[in-house]
Amino acid sequence: MKAEILRAIRNSKDHISGQELCERFGVSRTAVWKVIKQLQAEGYDIEAVTNKGYKLLSYPDLISACELMSRVNTQWAGRKVYFRRELTSTNEYAKLAAEEGAVHGALVVADKQTSGKGRRGRTWISPAGQNIYMSLLLRPDFSPNNASMLTLLMAVSVAEVLHHLHPELPVGIKWPNDVLIGDKKVCGILTEMDAEPDYIHNVIVGVGINVNQTEFDEELQAMATSLKLEKGMPVDRAQIILGVMDYFEYYYGLFTEHQDVSDFVNIYDSYLVNRGKEVRVLDPKGEYEGKAEGINDRGELIVNLPDGGVRTVSSGEVSVRGIYGYV
Ligand code: BTN
Repeated sequence: MKAEILRAIRNSKDHISGQELCERFGVSRTAVWKVIKQLQAEGYDIEAVTNKGYKLLSYPDLISACELMSRVNTQWAGRKVYFRRELTSTNEYAKLAAEEGAVHGALVVADKQTSGKGRRGRTWISPAGQNIYMSLLLRPDFSPNNASMLTLLMAVSVAEVLHHLHPELPVGIKWPNDVLIGDKKVCGILTEMDAEPDYIHNVIVGVGINVNQTEFDEELQAMATSLKLEKGMPVDRAQIILGVMDYFEYYYGLFTEHQDVSDFVNIYDSYLVNRGKEVRVLDPKGEYEGKAEGINDRGELIVNLPDGGVRTVSSGEVSVRGIYGYV
């Protein structure tokens, strides 16, 4: 009810009366007043004027369930939010929530992670109050072979939001799923799946976005950045989370229709920093070099070889000349 009251106040152009809120949500005036008091204590500047009602003047940079659920505009992605101040890892929490029956599209958000997980067993450093750590739970109705493409869907969703909210920033994607600003990483994605050979129980798409962090450990400084560092001012985390949910829901709809990424190859390629660049493919069967052309309908990277041949890369690490990790 708190999120609904906040949504009503937020969406009302002018003051909204206590009476109207009582009638809309079937609760007493005291109950409404209690919610207003709670919101004010959390930092919402809500004006209360006798005979007129309530008006939201400003709101804090919160990523609480109430804040997110009062602003969400999607049908299913992020409509149910589990917010925790501190978690070991939002991916781990999402796995537990999945076992307990959490719905498709449930979103786990934490303000801090104590054991944030990166890809290839790395740690994702996750200080409090600055960044986005979130995991989207999906219960897809398609073959496990298609699940790896969900990571690309998320990468393109994050890139689209950052580009549209901050058009001046040079947002890019390093295949398959690092989102960059210039040549520095601003977002990492870790997708984990619980599946039988022919059936997916659930997929968890974990996203870490560096938003308002300004200091990085020495070994990360050269390759990581944040939105605040790039813009020179703090950025609203909730707006980004909600934007990612909007785009993801849209791209997921296109994806499930065709079971491939054909509908957004062009948009993905437009962000691809590897495009037209020399890449070194760290294939377990032997490294090779070539020029990356873009992705195909299955999200694989198309690499043109010096001898005129073409290879597609579906897994393994690809390094790009000029981008971190390539020497
Ligand atoms: C990478 O190594 O690039 C992937 C990093 C993924 C980090 C996010 S933060 C939210 C979610 N929970 C985790 O423990 N990891 C992912």
